Amino acid sequence: MDYRIQGKCRPQGEITVNGDKSITHRGLILGSLAQGKTTLKGYSRGMDCLSTLGLLKNLGVNVADDNGALTVTGRGRFGFSEPDNILDCGNSGTTIRLFSGVLAGQNFFSVLTGDASLRKRPMDRVTVPLIRMAADIRGRAEGRFAPLCIVGRELTGMTYEMAVASAQVKSAILLAGLHARGETTVHEPVLTRDHTERMLEYLGADIARKDGGLTRVTARRWMAGREINVPGDISSAAFFIVLAAIADQAEICVTGVGVNPNRTGILDALRSMGADIRVSNPRLMAREPVADLVVKSSRLKAVTLSGDIIPRVIDEIPVLAVAATQAQGKTVIRDAGELRVKETDRIKAIADGLRKMGASIKEHADGLAIEGPVRLQAAECASFDDHRIALALTVAGLVAEGETIVRDAECVAISFPEFAEKVLTLAGPGVLVQTKE
Ligand code: S3P
Repeated sequence: MDYRIQGKCRPQGEITVNGDKSITHRGLILGSLAQGKTTLKGYSRGMDCLSTLGLLKNLGVNVADDNGALTVTGRGRFGFSEPDNILDCGNSGTTIRLFSGVLAGQNFFSVLTGDASLRKRPMDRVTVPLIRMAADIRGRAEGRFAPLCIVGRELTGMTYEMAVASAQVKSAILLAGLHARGETTVHEPVLTRDHTERMLEYLGADIARKDGGLTRVTARRWMAGREINVPGDISSAAFFIVLAAIADQAEICVTGVGVNPNRTGILDALRSMGADIRVSNPRLMAREPVADLVVKSSRLKAVTLSGDIIPRVIDEIPVLAVAATQAQGKTVIRDAGELRVKETDRIKAIADGLRKMGASIKEHADGLAIEGPVRLQAAECASFDDHRIALALTVAGLVAEGETIVRDAECVAISFPEFAEKVLTLAGPGVLVQTKE
């Protein structure tokens, strides 16, 4: 399926976005480990979260869909049953890495795998620390790639200094820690999203956190299921926030968006570029901060982004690159080499697409340099089967001159199946057409 996008749109109005993908994964996994029932309201229906759901079913977990809310019946600390087949994580890095941590400490055999993209992504970042906890986990190419094969066994707690800034790795270790003897402490020099930690606290696990990125867990107190209202996904909202900032005569409101400080790098980056973004009605949902965001057309200027902000904006860099094409001056993004090992090489993919549309964009090994402003021209672009590339290029198409085509756009459903419908709500009928070719 392709997207055909009419440019020069003027987005106006109010929307909500899908439930946060990271929080949905954690709600499903921690809910299934807790005692009692956990109900997830407003969960993400993206295919990545459906992959997590599929794994849980294969592990004997009962999940019921009552009126659009998912109710997970928790199985307790060692309550999963041995799956009778391989566990397919699809395209989802969060699923495979978090489950590596959970399954390493169970008392059964399991195999984790995924699609062609996932099988190319680095897994040694989880297998190496888990082996230090006494896990028996192996993978293709000496543990570097999936399929991963796990012979569950008793784990021992450890103290671990994070080598890469990755919330998936941190979460895998904390989840293994919940199934290990003794204490497990993780230190992250650069902070990453802390949804696992917040949800462990919310469900009553034994977790202690200190400033400077230190987190310790034990199994001394176990989690009890609760209701979890999932905030809107800021990584989905980001496409509309950028669209409104760079389109003419735009004013939009995205309500109920998660604004966890470890995820709001996109708001900080755009504000430092001069974007008109107002955050209102702050509230908490299951220990996660939430707010409404109003964004208006803005005149942007270039910035340099590097260091600690990068993990706080990592998934939004493709769409930030789109914003940078409309900013006065040279925007430089560094320290973002992690983008090369996402669903595709996102540095290469976004540079390829935006260059086709007339942007002046240079690749660095760990980032991008983009000169603006340029008038974007419609083009035919590849999604590289990566949802965030397809979504970012669609935003570029919505402000470009003419009709842009984004090929293989079905990958959008990985994180944001409702995207096209939201575009039509804000930008009017006919602006985006899905074609079969
Ligand atoms: C995620 C962590 C990030 C992010 C991904 C979701 C998570 O990945 O890019 O989309 O839910 O923990 P890394 O941990 O690889 O940085």
